[in-house]
Amino acid sequence: MQIVTEPSEARQALASLPRPLGFVPTMGALHEGHLALLRQARRRDTSVAASIFVNPMQFGQGEDFERYPRAVEGDRRHCEAAGVDVLFVPSPKAMYPADFSTSVDAGALGDAYEGAIRPEHFRGVATIVVKLLHVIGPDALYLGQKDAQQTAVLRRVVRDLNFPIAVEIVETVREADGLALSSRNAYLNERERAAAPTLHRALVALRDALQEGAPKEAAIARAHQTLDPSAKADYFDVVDALTFTPIDPLRPEAFVIGAARFGTTRLIDNLWIRT
Ligand code: PAF
Repeated sequence: MQIVTEPSEARQALASLPRPLGFVPTMGALHEGHLALLRQARRRDTSVAASIFVNPMQFGQGEDFERYPRAVEGDRRHCEAAGVDVLFVPSPKAMYPADFSTSVDAGALGDAYEGAIRPEHFRGVATIVVKLLHVIGPDALYLGQKDAQQTAVLRRVVRDLNFPIAVEIVETVREADGLALSSRNAYLNERERAAAPTLHRALVALRDALQEGAPKEAAIARAHQTLDPSAKADYFDVVDALTFTPIDPLRPEAFVIGAARFGTTRLIDNLWIRT
């Protein structure tokens, strides 16, 4: 595995790799969810590139940019074991020169739900992913289902900006008790960790209620009742998987979505309804 830190170095390293090339962008602190993305890329594509970059532009004021877990040495070993050919680990300066001023606006798709709570978050995500796609030039982009709205935003960006890239969404990996794997789970204390799987249970309750024919409001109320009382829900809803607009009743190609705070840690999760 070749590790590169400059865009020019990355292009050079990637130029000689056989195609198709799969790409997995990450912010590091890799867990089984990321490894599932890397393994799927390894199975489907001839060559695999990954990136590790904690992107300051997608964190708002007072968010966890400074304390976001960083584990470069372990990440490097995981990437090597997963068969990554080229690992791009740029410095903030390499991605954002001092007078950087161009950004990618994700449009209305990025304004609701996570975008309403984290204004500018999806501008940061769309901008860095477009920059990474320009550097890496992959044939396929692998994204985790866990960040459902991010998948919708990035599918739209890839389509709107004519990137000749297939976007592959890889299913969420969960702990045995249902908690979706996330780098932010590391922030949870024992009590919060015990309560956190109720977010998944709330989404299951919401989905089941809708599938049983309950009105959406009643189904959402059931989700709130299922969430641990110590948690604070930000939202529960059902949205179209591509447009991320609310739908009622439930139909295929939908996400049942939810976000809640356990202490100071905000977790998001979803169920993907496909059939
Ligand atoms: O999902 C993430 O880890 C990040 O949002 C991404 C896609 C790597 C962009 O920084």
